[in-house]
Amino acid sequence: MKKFFFAHFSKSTIIILSILMNLSNVSGQGVIIPIETEHNAFLLQTDNENRLRTVYFGGSLLHNEDYAQAKSMYHLDDANLGINNATYTSSGTWSIAEPAIQVVHGDGNRSLELKYVSHKKEQIDQNTSITSILLKDPLYDFEVTLYYKVWKSENVIEQWSEIKHQEKKPVILQKFASANLYFPSTEFYLTTFQGQWAKEMQPAEAKLVRGTRTIDTKLGTRAMLLQSPNFILAFDKPASEHDGTVILGQLAWSGNFKLDFEIDAYENLRFIAGINPYASEYTLQPNQTFKTPSLIYSISNHGTGEASRNLHSWARNYRVLDGQGERLTLLNNWEATYFDFDETKLTALFKDAKELGVDMFLLDDGWFANKYPRNSDRAGLGDWQENKKKLPNGIGYLVKEANKAGVKFGIWIEPEMVSPKSELYENHIDWVIRQPERPEVYYRNQLVLDLSNPEVQDFVYGIVDNLFTKNPELAFIKWDCNAVMFNAYSAYLDRKGLPQSHLYIDYVHGLYSVLERLRAKYPTVPMMLCSGGGGRGDYEILKYFTEFWPSDDTEPIERIFMQWDYSYFFPSIATDNHVTDWGKQPLKFRVDVASMGKLGFDIVAGELSENDLAFAKQAVSNYHSFKNVVWHGDLFRLINPHDHDFASLMYVDREKSKAIVFNYLVNSRQKLNTAVGPVKLDGLDANKKYNVKETNLYPGSRSMIDATKVYTGDFLMKVGINPNVSLWRTSVVLEVNEVK
Ligand code: GLA
Repeated sequence: MKKFFFAHFSKSTIIILSILMNLSNVSGQGVIIPIETEHNAFLLQTDNENRLRTVYFGGSLLHNEDYAQAKSMYHLDDANLGINNATYTSSGTWSIAEPAIQVVHGDGNRSLELKYVSHKKEQIDQNTSITSILLKDPLYDFEVTLYYKVWKSENVIEQWSEIKHQEKKPVILQKFASANLYFPSTEFYLTTFQGQWAKEMQPAEAKLVRGTRTIDTKLGTRAMLLQSPNFILAFDKPASEHDGTVILGQLAWSGNFKLDFEIDAYENLRFIAGINPYASEYTLQPNQTFKTPSLIYSISNHGTGEASRNLHSWARNYRVLDGQGERLTLLNNWEATYFDFDETKLTALFKDAKELGVDMFLLDDGWFANKYPRNSDRAGLGDWQENKKKLPNGIGYLVKEANKAGVKFGIWIEPEMVSPKSELYENHIDWVIRQPERPEVYYRNQLVLDLSNPEVQDFVYGIVDNLFTKNPELAFIKWDCNAVMFNAYSAYLDRKGLPQSHLYIDYVHGLYSVLERLRAKYPTVPMMLCSGGGGRGDYEILKYFTEFWPSDDTEPIERIFMQWDYSYFFPSIATDNHVTDWGKQPLKFRVDVASMGKLGFDIVAGELSENDLAFAKQAVSNYHSFKNVVWHGDLFRLINPHDHDFASLMYVDREKSKAIVFNYLVNSRQKLNTAVGPVKLDGLDANKKYNVKETNLYPGSRSMIDATKVYTGDFLMKVGINPNVSLWRTSVVLEVNEVK
């Protein structure tokens, strides 16, 4: 078994309940397996042939025995076909619908039948359980185990599959989905998110009609550049923030993915999600386990607001590295200097960072390579030695100088990549993903290293390990990934006699394996995931990263929309926002927008006007006073900028005693010269009393909010508060504090 197939059950797992069931069932109804969250359930049930079907999705039932009746209320067994609701659709036998799994057996046979064998439910703690269901082919020694991990109170399910066989010869997996869901009879609205560089996460919602809507990527690395694996599925009506059943989900995989939403001939929805089988046939040896990535989703019957809050709290508590911890505010030099810097320029920036009041200075691209210095994006990637001209005293000196100036020091790397103009390329061309016989194709003038190769994994691990070994006080890593995989071909796989079709998958496993090793040695150091903006960021890789960079687009109006759309899926503590010089909005607007997440700056602070600097310093200090509410509180999206000229959202702490409300004008039309109406707050305690004060005021401006007034939570949630946003007050941040 390969290293990357992680064990699921820790030794401390308390098995409270373990039911192994026989094929038959006393009631004659077949075996009934409800997968229940607090409020919803999928019902799985075997048919007369012992095939597992999905027969119900809806509210979880109060009385367990009622589940036995659910199936009879639907007509899913069409006399002629009845092929659509298999819980994990195999191919080449009775089901001729789009499969979840498709194989070529060792003897060349292409048929697969999966029948129910047993299932068990392991209770990990009061909130968490894992149901696993074993399915086997009666003819071939081939099995699939379906896993459903449920966090009950968050209404979050993580689903994956494990595929294994003991045939004499290897089996070729042609398709190997993570999950195969079925939703009977309703209308479905799907929101997907497309993008490109600096235009990530553009939502589009459409009613699903008969046929298949596919969301997929074949880019290999930077896989989400054009399509996102995140989706909102709404039942009966378009997704709404406060009501209706919705599923917010994601395929947690940092490579090629494919999500198929198929409305079948009976108007039911089949949903199959997994690694994209494109060019990825996988040869599975006897007794080797193929573990698919996970489909992770949160279900709510009260709209996207509740679903997001649940997903955020799950992500903070169980998934994102150090999700309950702190983050470092920072000053980054990328847009301040690009590649043009030296020690003097940098050390001056350390002082700016200190002056601003942020925790850290982050040195971006351009600090490395000597034979082919990294003075532009055309050379040097792969040669991770300090550039002697720019940094004659090395990184160690910078770390010390930063610490002397009173800030921590972090550094940018892009360890999976190589410039054709580099010593690494010259010395290890066989480490590069490229077709040896064809002209090279570049993305941002660079190529991708072959992480399916263990030597390359060691090299990538070594880059980070060296940095930390030499500079133990290094406080932060920004890990970038700017290119997609053209000419996908691995010299290593060839040498090993392994199929080229393993490359896309083995690359991602290689990456996870490097990150696993790094985290074993450096468990806590914060690391930011970046991929030329938001080209990467999923709940598998966020096990290793504390945060991610959603987009290089930091123009604050665009950013309001983008952060809004990312916020369906990711908590603010995981989302990095920097104040830059993009766009025409005043500094206050830019800082306010960047404060809705982990705040950073990417400007030359020394060039700010006196008032701007005074404002920025005060705003950073304000941020430190409310950041815990933004990072750990509940998010309430109040006014959607996609539908209004105005955006408003707020974070509330767990005790409902402190909230922070961000309000912005997102349209500069003259009609908006009068203030917009009150904003109804959310998530407060109706019976508590609060005052509301404006914060992040620009020097010399007076607030239009009377901070001495006291309101009940009831009032603030029903009548609301008017932030008096207008063309003259385009950005207003309010702090709501309980008055005792
Ligand atoms: C990518 C990142 C930027 C910056 C540059 C450096 O584009 O998204 O933030 O780090 O690389 O080359």
